[in-house]
Amino acid sequence: MTIEWSADAREFHLRNDKISYVMRVLERDWLGHLYFGSALAGDRSYAHLAPGEFFDFSNRVGEPIPLEYPTGGSGDFRIPALALELSDGSGVLDLRYSSHRVLPGKPAIPGLPSTYVEVGGEAETLEVTLADAVAQIEVKLLYTIYRDRPVIVRGARIVNRGQTPVVLRSAMSASLDLPDSDWQLISLSGDWARERHVVRQGLRPGRQSVFSLRGASSHQHNPFVALARPTATEDTGEAIGLSLAYSGNFLAEAEVEPLGTARVRTGINPEGFSWLLEPGAEFATPEAVLVFSAAGLGELSHAYHDLFRERMARGSWRDKPRPIVINNWEATYFDFDEPKLLAIATAAKEMGIEMFVLDDGWFGHRDDDFSSLGDWKVNTTKLPDGIESIARKVEALGMRFGIWIEPEMVSRRSDLFAAHPEWAIGIPSRPRTESRNQYVLDMSRPEVVNHLFDVLSAVLGSAPISYVKWDMNRNITEPFSTALPAWRQGEFLHRYILGVYELYDRLTKAFPGILFESCAGGGGRFDPGMLAFAPQTWTSDNTDAIERIKIQWGTSLAYPLSSMAAHVSAVPNHQVGRITPLATRAAVAFFGVFGYELDPTKLSDEERSEVADQVAFYKKWRQLFQRGRFLRLRSPFEGGRDEAAWMTVADDMRSAVVGHYKILSRPNPGPQRLRLRGLDPNATYRVSTWPSANVDGGPPSAIDLGGDELMAAGLVFAGGRESATQGDFLALVYVLEAV
Ligand code: GLA
Repeated sequence: MTIEWSADAREFHLRNDKISYVMRVLERDWLGHLYFGSALAGDRSYAHLAPGEFFDFSNRVGEPIPLEYPTGGSGDFRIPALALELSDGSGVLDLRYSSHRVLPGKPAIPGLPSTYVEVGGEAETLEVTLADAVAQIEVKLLYTIYRDRPVIVRGARIVNRGQTPVVLRSAMSASLDLPDSDWQLISLSGDWARERHVVRQGLRPGRQSVFSLRGASSHQHNPFVALARPTATEDTGEAIGLSLAYSGNFLAEAEVEPLGTARVRTGINPEGFSWLLEPGAEFATPEAVLVFSAAGLGELSHAYHDLFRERMARGSWRDKPRPIVINNWEATYFDFDEPKLLAIATAAKEMGIEMFVLDDGWFGHRDDDFSSLGDWKVNTTKLPDGIESIARKVEALGMRFGIWIEPEMVSRRSDLFAAHPEWAIGIPSRPRTESRNQYVLDMSRPEVVNHLFDVLSAVLGSAPISYVKWDMNRNITEPFSTALPAWRQGEFLHRYILGVYELYDRLTKAFPGILFESCAGGGGRFDPGMLAFAPQTWTSDNTDAIERIKIQWGTSLAYPLSSMAAHVSAVPNHQVGRITPLATRAAVAFFGVFGYELDPTKLSDEERSEVADQVAFYKKWRQLFQRGRFLRLRSPFEGGRDEAAWMTVADDMRSAVVGHYKILSRPNPGPQRLRLRGLDPNATYRVSTWPSANVDGGPPSAIDLGGDELMAAGLVFAGGRESATQGDFLALVYVLEAV
């Protein structure tokens, strides 16, 4: 890994074995973009790649000169990276190269989550300073390259070097100019209970974007997009990923201009955003993680998985095996007491489950979702002996205990709202909009963050609590803070997220042994920013196995298996009413952080022994399911959607697990092969199946097959085990062990 600067060519070359990122200080001192892609030789100039060199700048206003951090008003008419309003009301900027330096490792971003380094020599950071002498604005662009990853992490700091305040209107984390637009834009889009479905469409002239204006990164669009060549598949072709480490309003946008070049940008959504920058003040953008793959979307995902798992997630749980939980939400909703919870925990323990999680309803007078958010004191009607009592009883069973909280919220019917109505977000002259019968607390106010830290610390310190599920069940309306002056209201939603990050930071540091799981009505805030504090996320409120195949598949484009909580729930499923076999539900939930979300006391003896078998199977292969290399084999979004498959392989390629899902039964299916990937071609694998009962009732018979054959010819299930079984929603898990 190197960051080369050639003073003669005025060129930067960031490179490692996998990628190169080349920039050049152009005529006029603009910082031009030359190249991002597969590694190129060092010690060479790539100046000729800059079309800017062939343009007469004075006569060719509007030419698509590739720039690193474009601004408007001085000849570039495309979407800018930076827009601001100066004290005279003008908004023109002309940023020119001023200096640069190379830093070892990677600097943190004040108040924002970011990737980091742990070992010396792991990464280097280039900081290039651009300046506009008239506006007296300085922009520091940061580029981190890791030695062993096809990743460039970017961000920007905007500094006001003048004597008067300026107003930032838009400050992107990254803007990337590409020489052609022969790309398809992939986004992870959907809604509540169907998050992160894969949408792939060719770029067209003009602007196309995904974004959030909800105050959270959202169920509707994820702050991740990829550009893929139209022919790119899971294992071939070029792809570029842009992911934003941010949990609030974001924008990811592509623009194709008439000469056919493309620009992509990502950052805080400029819509509704502004930031007053006093003289001398600096604004730091969240960071954007750019990945390049020349070998398809699979490689792109692996780069994100490894980086987010190893260098975004942090804390004592980062590398530890995650426990199998049972959560009481779908088992009881608000209707529980201590004996009922202990009966669930006891039955779960008998089946080998490791942690009991007490969900919503344990506090205040919360018997439905109309009250008590904000009153983080135990509900003594349901739990007369308190949290400590139930936690200790669960521990006495040999399980760990976890708890649900929703810190950012307040119910209209609550002691907190009665005491501090001004802490709820709203505009004094307007009614507040309720959603799920609750308001959102003003996390931009330090006193709110301090209060929440105190009351939640009291709860978490009061009992042996090993896990916290931190929920966020509604989006923000009437964004406004009575604590901010009129001219700072455009800062509110960003300040809200900074407040959330601060609370997360303080609580995770005060309780380093607790495993935090983030949640927002399921996957409404599944983003890299959250992963910096909570290494796992409740993937979706939709626990139906068939729906989950799509949700987990889409999520896996950017996020590792260790971040995806996945639970087996009861049937008919509570979100879609579908009835699927218990084995299928497990076969989907295995590929993630496994658990249960049902009342085990209502299971038959046969089902209980099935669950015990699932739990034992997951424990045996937990490392693979949480840390293995995940490969997507057959998409639930393509090919008639009647089948899907994926697999996870150990780093040493000595073992692998494949999940194959027959969604809808096909009449007279014919012979079928499933080609695997990522195996050792020289190894022989003993292939067995799980479970046996789901297939033909017989015992699973193992067969020895070569890694080369499994990848080149495939696993055959012609006329055999699976297709012999009629019915929908069937799954089969194959276990491969090198012999
Ligand atoms: C959200 C979560 C659920 C559950 C409920 C409780 O919807 O996603 O898992 O915790 O809140 O109210």
